[in-house]
Parts: sequence; structure tokens; C-alpha cells
Amino acid sequence: MKFEERKILLKDGRTCVLKPNSPEYAQEMLDYLRKTSAETEYLLRYPDEVKFTLESEKEILGNLLENPYAIMMIAVVDGKVAGNGSVNGIGDKRKIQHRCSLAIALYEEFWGLGIGTAMIDYMSELAGQIGWKQLDLEVVAENEQAIALYKKCGFIETGRRHNALKFDDGSFHDEILMYKDL
Ligand SMILES: CC(C)(COP(=O)(O)OP(=O)(O)OC[C@H]1O[C@@H](n2cnc3c(N)ncnc32)[C@H](O)[C@@H]1OP(=O)(O)O)[C@@H](O)C(=O)NCCC(=O)NCCS
Repeated sequence: MKFEERKILLKDGRTCVLKPNSPEYAQEMLDYLRKTSAETEYLLRYPDEVKFTLESEKEILGNLLENPYAIMMIAVVDGKVAGNGSVNGIGDKRKIQHRCSLAIALYEEFWGLGIGTAMIDYMSELAGQIGWKQLDLEVVAENEQAIALYKKCGFIETGRRHNALKFDDGSFHDEILMYKDL
């Protein structure tokens, strides 16, 4: 969906622009997906699982921009992509139409500057305007930084999915389930 650009002041004095992601960022998004999934184990994909072509990524970003029920927010600092966040509906069936789900990841060099907090606050605001009543997410149980961010932004822990993830090193990891009323 299209939404107003928002400028935020970071903890290091720089300015960050939060705006709708769009096809012009397709190549940067492919680089971002590969690099961020290598920088942390806490994202769902491994870098070699990023299979999109430039053309398919452009098409996906174009469709998301035109979809009034999809939030795809890019964070840009000094003209460089710092991160991306998204909110999407859980499904079309009436019984689950009130729920949406959030995902977010920043490049490591932009962690700890306040971007995550600002993105979640803005995405929550937009999700409420769309009409969703509940924002859900799953986070790897060991991801303390993300859990701290979510609690700061008003999310409440509601459960735990045993052995939700199996990493390539053979280790199993639980996921924490969290929600926030919109
Ligand atoms: C998780 C992530 C999005 C957080 O974004 P961020 O911009 O670094 O977060 P913020 O700077 O807004 O910090 C928010 C809060 O997190 C906490 N926090 C920050 N760094 C932390 C750290 N290293 N350890 C524990 N808590 C930390 C603080 O409570 C902070 O609040 P404060 O600013 O009032 O002190 C970012 O670190 C990231 O992209 N990580 C890798 C991908 C990932 O794990 N995504 C989530 C998957 S579910």
C-alpha cells in the first residue's frame, strides 16, 4: 500500500526515512535478503534460499505497493537501505480476518539506533487504519534483542512453539508467539 513518508531522528543524529517499498528497490532488496539472512540466524531464510530474480522481485514489490491490505515499509538512511518491515493479513477467511502478522529485519550496521521501534510504531498505526484488530508475530526464543523491541512496542507473549526451527547445524529452536491489540 501507499502511505506517507515519515522522517525520524536516529540515536546517532542521522535522519531515517520510512516509506513504502517499491520496484525501484528490487536489486537492493535482493542484496538485503541475502546479507541480512547471513548476518543473523534469527530470520527464516538461509542466504541460498533467496531465489527471486530481479524481474520477479520487481513484480512482487509492484503488487505489494498497489495492494491496500499489505504494508511493505523500507527504511533508508543517507540514501542507503537500512532495513525492511512488513505486515500482511493472516488469511481471507472471516474467522481470521481480524489478524495480521509482522516481520522486520535491519542490516546489522543499523541495529540499536531506534529504527526498529519507529518502524513498528508506524506499521502498527497503519495496520490499525486498515482495520486489523490484532498484530501477531513469532520470534526465535533466543532473539533477546527482538523480544526486547517487541515488548517495548507493546507486544505480549502468548505462547511458545516447541522446536519450531531446525538450523543447518542440527540444533532445534523454539519460537515465542506474541501479539498486540491494535
Ligand atoms: C530486532 C531488530 C529489528 C531491532 O531493531 P533495532 O532498530 O535494533 O531496535 P531499536 O534500536 O529500536 O531498539 C529497541 C529496543 O530493543 C532493545 N535492545 C536494543 N539492542 C539490544 C540488544 N543488543 N540486546 C537486548 N536488547 C536490545 C532495547 O530495549 C531497545 O530499547 P531502547 O532503545 O529504549 O533502549 C534488529 O536488531 C534486527 O534487524 N535484527 C536482526 C533481524 C531480526 O532478528 N529480526 C526479527 C525477527 S523476529
